[in-house]
Amino acid sequence: MSMDKTLTLDEQIEVDRPLREVYAYIAEFSRIQEWDPGVARGVKLTPGSPAVGSEYRIDMKAGFSLHYRIVELEPCARMRMEVDSKVFTAREEIRFAALKGGGTRVRYIAEFTFPAPLAAANKAYPAAMERVGKSTMRGLQAALEDDFDAPEQSALVALSDRLVLPGIWRFTRLGYKASRRHWKPVSAYLGDSHVVITGATSGLGLAAAQGLADMGARLTLVARDADKAAAVAADIARQSGNASIAVEICDLSIMAQVHALAERLLQAGEPVHALVNNAGALFNPRQLTSEGFEASFALLLLGPYILTERLQPLLAQAGDARVVNVLSGGMYSQKIRVRDLQSERGEYSGAVAYARAKRGLMILTEEWAQAWADAGIVVNAMHPGWADTPGVESSLPGFYRLTRPLLRSPEEGADTAVWLAASTEAGKVSGEFWLDREIHPSHLSGRTRETPEERAQLLQVLEELRQSTAVKPAASGPRGKKARRS
Ligand SMILES: NC(=O)c1ccc[n+]([C@@H]2O[C@H](COP(=O)([O-])OP(=O)(O)OC[C@H]3O[C@@H](n4cnc5c(N)ncnc54)[C@H](OP(=O)(O)O)[C@@H]3O)[C@@H](O)[C@H]2O)c1
Repeated sequence: MSMDKTLTLDEQIEVDRPLREVYAYIAEFSRIQEWDPGVARGVKLTPGSPAVGSEYRIDMKAGFSLHYRIVELEPCARMRMEVDSKVFTAREEIRFAALKGGGTRVRYIAEFTFPAPLAAANKAYPAAMERVGKSTMRGLQAALEDDFDAPEQSALVALSDRLVLPGIWRFTRLGYKASRRHWKPVSAYLGDSHVVITGATSGLGLAAAQGLADMGARLTLVARDADKAAAVAADIARQSGNASIAVEICDLSIMAQVHALAERLLQAGEPVHALVNNAGALFNPRQLTSEGFEASFALLLLGPYILTERLQPLLAQAGDARVVNVLSGGMYSQKIRVRDLQSERGEYSGAVAYARAKRGLMILTEEWAQAWADAGIVVNAMHPGWADTPGVESSLPGFYRLTRPLLRSPEEGADTAVWLAASTEAGKVSGEFWLDREIHPSHLSGRTRETPEERAQLLQVLEELRQSTAVKPAASGPRGKKARRS
C-alpha cells in the first residue's frame, strides 16, 4: 500500500479588476515569480500564448524546480495544470469568475502528492504548504491590485552614483541582480495599448519588443532593414503568441524618412500609448548622412526629436501615454554643446558625440515632461546598464572583451524601458532618468549642467531643423540636397 501523502489546498481572492485583465496576467504563468514569494524565476518553455500543452519551468528559491504543463484551458474561465518535481507532484486548477460590479474572483485548488519517504521524513509539509498557499494568494492579490507608490529618488542611490565606482558597479549584471530584489509586480494590462518602438531588430530594442509583446501590447516596430524586421516580427509573434506586430521601415538618421514615418502613423490615426526611442549606434570616424547631418546627432537627437514631436497628437489621444528615451551612462561625462551640435570643432570622438547627443535627449526628456504633463503624457529616460548586445560588441570591441562576464543580458538591459512603458507606478513620475527601475540623478557634476539659455537654444535649433527638413508640399519645388547645419 502506498504511503504517499496528499494535501489539498483551496484558496480564493477577489480583486477589483476586470476578468480579462486578471486572466491575462495569471495565465502567462512564467510571471509567477512576481507574486509567489517562494519562486526565484519562471521560464516559459514553449512558444505562443498559454494553451493546452504549454510548459513552464518554475525555479524555487528553495533550490528545486517545478515543471508545469497546462492540461486543460478555458480562456477566462479555468486552467488546469500538472506539476512535477523532485519534491512533490501536483494537480493545480485556477478558476476565474467575473463578479458583479466588474471585479474578479480567482480560486486556486491544488492537490499535492508527496512521495512516501519524503512525507515520512518531514511531517511539517502540510502546515508549510498551507502557509505557502496563503502567502502566494496574498502576493497575487497585491500584484493584481497594482497600487504601488510612485518611486522616489533615494539619497543613497544619488550618493553612490557620485562615488563613481559604486555607480559603475550598478551598470553590470550584479547591479541588476541587486536591484531586482526590491521590484514590484507589473500586472498592468497592455491588451489595449499600442507601442511604437525604434531599433527593435537587435539588442535591447528586440528584448523590449519581446517583453511588451508578451504582455499583450500591439507593437509597431520601426526598423531600417525590411528583411530583418520581417523576420524579427515573425519571431516575436511566434514566441509571444501575439499577432499584432506591425513593421514600419525607416532609417531614423534620415529626417525625410522620419517625417514620412510620422506622416504614415498620423494618417493611420491609431493612438500611441508608448513610444520607445531606442535605436542607436556609435559612429567612428565622424560621418555625415545623405542629408548632410553628422550621424550621431541625426540618429540620437534630431531623429527622436522630430519623431516624438510629430507623434505628440497620437500620444495625447492615448490619454495616458509614455515616452521612453533610451540613453546611456556615457551622458554623465558630457555637457550639451549647443554651438557645436554636430561635432564640427576640435578632434572628433564617436563616444563624445554619442554622449552629447544622449545628453541632448535627456534635456528633451525634461522639457517634454513639463510641456506635455497636461496632455497626460509622461516622458522618462533610462540607462540600460551595460548589456551584451550586437551594438556593444561591434562598436566597443575592447570594452566588450574586458567586461563581457559582467554584462547584462539584453532582457536585463531592456527591463527598465519595458517597465517605464508598462507599469502603473512608472506612469506617476515624469522627466526622470532611470536605471533598474530607480531614479538616478541626470548630472553627477555641475560641470555638465547647461544654462537655461542653452536649453532654450537647443530647443530652438531642433525646432528649426524639424521645420526645414519637413517635406514641403509639391508646389514649392524640390528641396536642396544639403540640410542646414546647426
Ligand atoms: N547595450 C548597452 O550596453 C547600452 C548601454 C547604454 C546605452 N545603450 C543604448 O541602447 C540602445 C540600443 O542599443 P543596443 O546595445 O541594443 O544596440 P544594437 O544591438 O546595435 O541595436 C541597435 C538598434 O538600433 C537600430 N538602428 C541603428 N541605426 C539605425 C538607423 N539609422 N535607423 C533605424 N534603426 C537603426 C539597429 O538596427 P539594425 O538591426 O538594422 O542595425 C538596431 O535595431 C541605443 O540607443 C544605445 O545607445 C546601450
